[in-house]
Amino acid sequence: MSIVPEAIAVGVTVNGRDVTLEVEPRTSLADAIRSQLDLTGTHLGCEHGVCGACTILLDDEPARACLMLAVQADGRRVTTIEGLAVGDERHPVQRAMYEAMSFQCAFCSPGFMMSAVALLTENPTPTREEIREELSGNLCRCTGDHSIVDGVERAAALLQAGTATDGAS
Ligand code: FES
Ligand code: FES
Repeated sequence: MSIVPEAIAVGVTVNGRDVTLEVEPRTSLADAIRSQLDLTGTHLGCEHGVCGACTILLDDEPARACLMLAVQADGRRVTTIEGLAVGDERHPVQRAMYEAMSFQCAFCSPGFMMSAVALLTENPTPTREEIREELSGNLCRCTGDHSIVDGVERAAALLQAGTATDGAS
């Protein structure tokens, strides 16, 4: 009798593309998207749900991909950092956090950016306190939080300006 678990097919929409992952029951979502889809922008730090480096959006809600099993994503939508830009056009959160020099080594940046996108979708004009609160599950060991909060504020302004422009056109 074989003790190797059979692969399970998981149908998931990743960054707008329908894909099938072949996973073992114990495979984490982070491992599946990194190894099978080559989406290595989802970083793995602690792998215990503490650092937030692996944050992705699951049906538009932030989730820790290291804590989720890939099978739990069956039939759902996943957005990773690679799914934010449109062609060569970076997402306003990416642009703003780059311009605000929010990060140093940038290991934590994909997770912060995904959390920031979720925050600004929910609350387009957060206060600095609200930004700190909402991003408190993401850890950075290089940068003080000022430049990260600056970046999210800048992103909020860019998104608001974009919305105003869209509305005017
Ligand atoms: S790698 Fe998932 S929370 Fe740290
Ligand atoms: S910039 Fe290095 S961990 Fe955040």
